[in-house]
Amino acid sequence: MSAIFVTGTGTDIGKTFVACGLIGELRRRGRAVAAFKPLASGFDPACPEAGDPGALLAALGEPVSLTTLDRIAPWRYEAALAPNMAAEAEGKRVDFDAVVAFSHQATHAADAVVIEGVGGAMSPVAARHTVLDWIVALNLPALLVTGTYLGAQSHALTAFAALRGRGITVAALVANETPDSAVGLDETVRSLARFASPVPVVSLPRLAPGAPHAAFAALADLFCCDAAHVR
Ligand SMILES: Nc1ncnc2c1ncn2[C@@H]1O[C@H](COP(=O)(O)OP(=O)(O)OP(=O)(O)O)[C@@H](O)[C@H]1O
Ligand SMILES: [Mg+2]
Repeated sequence: MSAIFVTGTGTDIGKTFVACGLIGELRRRGRAVAAFKPLASGFDPACPEAGDPGALLAALGEPVSLTTLDRIAPWRYEAALAPNMAAEAEGKRVDFDAVVAFSHQATHAADAVVIEGVGGAMSPVAARHTVLDWIVALNLPALLVTGTYLGAQSHALTAFAALRGRGITVAALVANETPDSAVGLDETVRSLARFASPVPVVSLPRLAPGAPHAAFAALADLFCCDAAHVR
């Protein structure tokens, strides 16, 4: 089995972009891939292709339909808020145990499985549970996506410490280049690598969507049977 949970230092940091790039690379290698975004907020039913589930389906080469959306992203909320708040805005409540049960099933869906979380590593997903609790419940290795803006290193290392403090294996950090940042991508990677070692720090520049890149190849390598970090 090979499954990974994509988390990040916060919202809009590049989790979906990284997940899609990784899916593309795994598919180019002929792997059977499945991807999930169990909790999707900020979802516009009038434009489902535009949201995260739509992007993941496109990367998987699958159509966007009610059936495929229900299969990969069963909990969809319209408000662009943390899922518990977005659910509340619709008079609903996130059932954390149901999300964990669904995600656990999802890890068996293919020989390579990518699950995208929401927001950052400690974003609340339900009244009393955060993304950290979700990853712990699944016992999956995590990919931690961070930026290169000024201050990103502290955000990255704080999230890294929080993940490891809960016993979560961090398979890799991805330094995803922040546009127009005063801090360089290479310097950020070098600096983070000194703190994260032996966990690899993968360098991801700005790319056109769908473009292959060595960063995605490095992440796909984590899915090899002998990679210690992905089970
Ligand atoms: N390396 C990159 N090159 C080009 N565009 C990128 C890159 N990384 C992210 N983006 C773009 O930045 C935006 C935010 O990225 P993305 O949607 O992947 O973030 P996210 O962490 O998944 O956000 P959310 O918390 O909403 O799930 C998207 O438009 C995405 O296409
Ligand atoms: Mg996303």
